[in-house]
Amino acid sequence: MERIDKILSNLGYGTRKELKNIIKNGSVIVDGKIIKDNGFKLDPEKSIIEINGEKVQYKKYIYLMMNKPDGVISATFDNYEKTVIDLLLEEHKVFDPFPVGRLDKDTVGLLILTNDGELNHKLISPKHHVDKVYYAKIDKKVDEKDVKAFEEGIVIDDGYKCMPAKLKIAKAKDEESEVYVTVQEGKFHQVKRMFEARGKKVVYLKRISFGALELDESLKEGSYRELEEKEIKMLQTCKNSVMNM
Ligand code: URA
Repeated sequence: MERIDKILSNLGYGTRKELKNIIKNGSVIVDGKIIKDNGFKLDPEKSIIEINGEKVQYKKYIYLMMNKPDGVISATFDNYEKTVIDLLLEEHKVFDPFPVGRLDKDTVGLLILTNDGELNHKLISPKHHVDKVYYAKIDKKVDEKDVKAFEEGIVIDDGYKCMPAKLKIAKAKDEESEVYVTVQEGKFHQVKRMFEARGKKVVYLKRISFGALELDESLKEGSYRELEEKEIKMLQTCKNSVMNM
């Protein structure tokens, strides 16, 4: 059971103070009855709420796709650094979303934000083997030996043997290469450390897909949108991906 003013304010119908007046004026109807008490409690999943004659579409969860920019951290709060939550509008912040997994401060691209803990768990749990695809620029020539090493499982600096990963070379030059990497884990700095283990450095990293969900390239860095129903379903069913590799 939740307070009517809280439900409506979370859905963007105004501040709690504004809603107190709206409710007092008799503009809010719950299950056919006008209610005038802003502290009235109801189950928003069961009751029908109307405001100014319009039916309220209740939602508990929010699902956002962001094209994360360089220079912000994937956290909900930080004393010093700008976070991905700071980039959200108030109407989305009220849902208390958090990032699904982390991208490094200097990594750009697809970041999902939600307040759906169950989906979050499913997407980041290593048990579920969700493919994450990254586009990367590397400071040296990437070759077939690297592809093979990724396939076999790279041993990173702390001795951990990564799960097999796919490496696809898009461009290979002595001074810079462009590659696509598909990993199923989400270890700290994983892609960077995998290349370090091969004596190479990632100079640019962008996540382009997560499971079957691809980054909407019409989103500029730093902007975001709500996921469509079918995109949420795609994540919930955890269908893997995307790239023909
Ligand atoms: N791997 C990294 O090294 N960094 C990221 O942000 C994501 C994957």
